[in-house]
Amino acid sequence: MQALYEFRSHGEDDTEELARQLSRHLHAGTVIAVDGDLGAGKTRFSQGLARAIGVTEIVNSPTFTIVKEYKGTQLPFYHMDVYRITQMEADDLGLDEYFYGDGITMIEWASLIEPLLPMERLNIFIAYEGEQERLFRLAPIGEPYSGWCNQMKENGYLT
Ligand SMILES: Nc1ncnc2c1ncn2[C@@H]1O[C@H](COP(=O)(O)OP(=O)(O)O)[C@@H](O)[C@H]1O
Ligand SMILES: [Mg+2]
Repeated sequence: MQALYEFRSHGEDDTEELARQLSRHLHAGTVIAVDGDLGAGKTRFSQGLARAIGVTEIVNSPTFTIVKEYKGTQLPFYHMDVYRITQMEADDLGLDEYFYGDGITMIEWASLIEPLLPMERLNIFIAYEGEQERLFRLAPIGEPYSGWCNQMKENGYLT
């Protein structure tokens, strides 16, 4: 069974901090698959991650475009929202070019395209627990994602 790690966010600053801690590990080909209900904080977390890797453009929800590309300091940032994706769009977009490409891919509503995701990735589930409270559950699949989570746990950021 895959290991589960937890992070409790008591506000947007905490969510930003998790993104910042995670950003220290990111490299080309990183895939982060995010799920959680509407308003859970998927986009907010993506914004934190984008900022942490040096994206200066405003990151907002790419629901209608499915994927938006941003320029970070070192790496491109590919932000996807697949809530409304159709099979045809999925085929046309060439998702693998992003997943196995030269940037960091973050997918909102990732479980909707589970069969299309790379086997190795970092799954993150965000649960709404109150106006400011969120529970992040991280489920890494494979390396290097498991190693990152272990390290963040050792450093006291995850339980
Ligand atoms: N701890 C928190 N972490 C992230 N967002 C939070 C937190 N507390 C409150 N929020 C608010 O929750 C909302 C999350 O919205 P958004 O990120 O668009 O959700 P989603 O993309 O999952 O639909 C934002 O308005 C944000 O300000
Ligand atoms: Mg969103």
